[in-house]
Amino acid sequence: MTQDSPPVCDYEGSDYQTRFWDEGNREYEDAVEAIALRRLLPAGGRRLLELGAGAGRNTPRYAGFDQVVLVDFSRSQLQQAQARLGKTERYLYVAADIYRLPFNPAQFDAATMIRTLHHMADAPRAIEQTGRALQTGGVFILEYANKRHLKSILRYILGRQKWSPFTLEPEEFVALNFDFHPKAVRSWLKGCGFAVERQITVSHFRAPLFKRVFPLKLLTGLDALAQYTGNWWQLTPSVFVRARLDRPVPDAAPVASLFACPACGNASLNEEPEALVCSGCGRRWPVEDGIYDFRGK
Ligand SMILES: C[S@@+](CC[C@H](N)C(=O)[O-])C[C@H]1O[C@@H](n2cnc3c(N)ncnc32)[C@H](O)[C@@H]1O
Repeated sequence: MTQDSPPVCDYEGSDYQTRFWDEGNREYEDAVEAIALRRLLPAGGRRLLELGAGAGRNTPRYAGFDQVVLVDFSRSQLQQAQARLGKTERYLYVAADIYRLPFNPAQFDAATMIRTLHHMADAPRAIEQTGRALQTGGVFILEYANKRHLKSILRYILGRQKWSPFTLEPEEFVALNFDFHPKAVRSWLKGCGFAVERQITVSHFRAPLFKRVFPLKLLTGLDALAQYTGNWWQLTPSVFVRARLDRPVPDAAPVASLFACPACGNASLNEEPEALVCSGCGRRWPVEDGIYDFRGK
């Protein structure tokens, strides 16, 4: 079961939420993402998996679900999320690697991955892991950074950018930061058993000049309208996709318990006061201050 995992972009101790969102003049990006999510999310459900949840910026937007399981590799991001959302049964905080998710198959009826695929050196594997966690018919809302956006096309045509926005391979513009071609993302989803239902393009007007000149409400309203073109063409830096798991879950008997051992795949973990212990390989997965920790090998 244990497989070598690709490297993880480490957010431990990062002030990402404060620097990028709270003090980074990103009200427009946050507002247009909220609109896209509203348009794509199912009305409600039992349990939603939020992959790369960070400090829980989007979590309150999943209000229709009975339970939200926040997964992030960084414990400090989850601590920030916990401070924002509280310690309640509605939220489970799980420190884990998306490449080695600690769940039994088909435990979720929806999943989201927002601003996180762009850190994946092996994006198909991250999508495959998500599909494994979902029930048949489960909805996956995936946001990705688009390499074929208008600015990169113009820069390429004018000779100011060497790499082509039209080729299918990911573009690693900074270490462990990738832009993807929309066609490649769709083909990975299809290869993992998902059917793409809808695409929404967001952040059409995020250029600093637009933000300086036009009021937030106007830019947000225009973006909300432009989002409807997302099924026809994808020329924005960020794209949201709603895909549905369109294949039967391979494991015949569904398992009632949520967690599985990410090291050996055993479906049953015994609860101890400060750990979950695998009845197969004996590994101890700590539970500390309400955060499950599955990051060890
Ligand atoms: C740019 S932040 C986005 C956070 C949040 N989704 C948002 O939109 O505000 C990316 C998050 O993905 C997490 N992450 C990156 N690689 C990961 C991996 N392999 N497994 C789990 N989380 C990962 C990081 O720790 C970070 O919190």
